[in-house]
Order: sequence, then structure tokens, then C-alpha cells
Amino acid sequence: FNKLQFEHDLLHWYAESKRDLPWRSENDPYKIWVSEIMLQQTKVDTVIPYFNHFIEKYPSVYELAAAEQQDVLKAWEGLGYYSRARNLQNAVREVVEEYGGKVPSTPKELGSLKGIGPYTKGAILSIAFNQPEPAVDGNVMRVFSRVLKIEEDIAQQSTKKLFEDYVRELISKEDPSSFNQAIMDLGATICTPKSPGCMLCPVQAYCRAFAEGIQDELPIKKKA
Ligand code: ADE
Repeated sequence: FNKLQFEHDLLHWYAESKRDLPWRSENDPYKIWVSEIMLQQTKVDTVIPYFNHFIEKYPSVYELAAAEQQDVLKAWEGLGYYSRARNLQNAVREVVEEYGGKVPSTPKELGSLKGIGPYTKGAILSIAFNQPEPAVDGNVMRVFSRVLKIEEDIAQQSTKKLFEDYVRELISKEDPSSFNQAIMDLGATICTPKSPGCMLCPVQAYCRAFAEGIQDELPIKKKA
């Protein structure tokens, strides 16, 4: 497994094929943050119009911090999981009050904000601040379980830690933002749960599951 070649091929594919998503046109940490909170339980296609409207209404932490909670919930209407919106606004107020309006860029400070768990923390650190931090969710575990032939049960919490260790090892040190987003896009568009498009896959040559024809059997997820 040639790590640098893998990175090169993945990033080359991403540069050519990345999905054109509104939060990808900038790297304002606040906008990345809003997008990642919306994407926690909601699909990309649903999020897009909500994101655009939300950012138009609340273009920075200051407008969101100053807004009435009722209005914020109104802008969130239809997305569901409303605690996401309440936590986001509370955390944004903390950023204005405690961090002078600048979204913190350390794992510790970012992770202490309401609503920011390990995945969202890693996504913001890598995408907005270009730090080589893993952002591991189900999609990312699916991709790497296949590429690396990891047969651990992804329903176990300890398995997520294992994947975070692998991603820490593999992530591009030049462009962690594109690396994590490339894996997200690969999982969403090619390395799908059913009938993955291995013939179109930019990292097919590195994939142990493809080499053995077991891509449909990974990842392994046992019922509790
Ligand atoms: N899912 C979660 N975060 C994402 C992102 N930044 N881009 C695309 N899909 C995502």
C-alpha cells in the first residue's frame, strides 16, 4: 500500500469530480460549522436550500448570536432535530462572548462547544482550518473498511477509534480538507452501501476488498 500514491490519486479525483456544494465555495469556519451541523442527520440534497437560506439570514456568528431563538427555529423548520439549532445558537453566542467572535481552532476548545462531537470537530478542524484531523462517520468507515479490509464490527465504539487511528495515519498533511471531503464524496457517490461503483473508483488499485471481491461483505455491522 503506497500511502502517497493513494493520497495523490484520491486528491486528483476530488479536484476533477468534487460535488459542487455551497459550503465548499469558502472556508469561513462559521459556514463550515453550520453545514456540518445540518449534515449530521440530514442528507446533502435536503440541506442545500436550508443552508443557503440560513446563511443569507445569518451571515456571521454575530447575526446568529443576536437572533431570537424562535426565528432561528423557524429557519430550521423542516430539517428536524431542533436541538441542533438551539445548541448551535448557544455555541455561537459562546463564541461571540468568550472568543471574540472567532471560531476556536483547537480540538479542545472546539470540542467543548455545545453540539460539536468528535465527527463535527474533525470536519471543522480539517475543512475550515486545514488540520490533519480525522472526521469518521459511517460513510468513512465503509470506505476504509473496504480499502484496508477491516473486519471489525463498526457498531462497536472501539472500532470508530481504530478508524480514527488509520485516518490520522493516512490523511494528507498537505491538504487535509480535500482529503476528508474526498472520502466523504467517495462514500456518497461511488463506495456506496449497495452495488458500489468499483469500476469508477479512483482508488480501486489500493482496495483490498475489491482485489478479493468482497466489497459487498464490508463493512461488518453486527446487530446489538
Ligand atoms: N457529510 C458530512 N459533511 C459533509 C461535507 N462537508 N461534504 C459532503 N458531505 C458531508
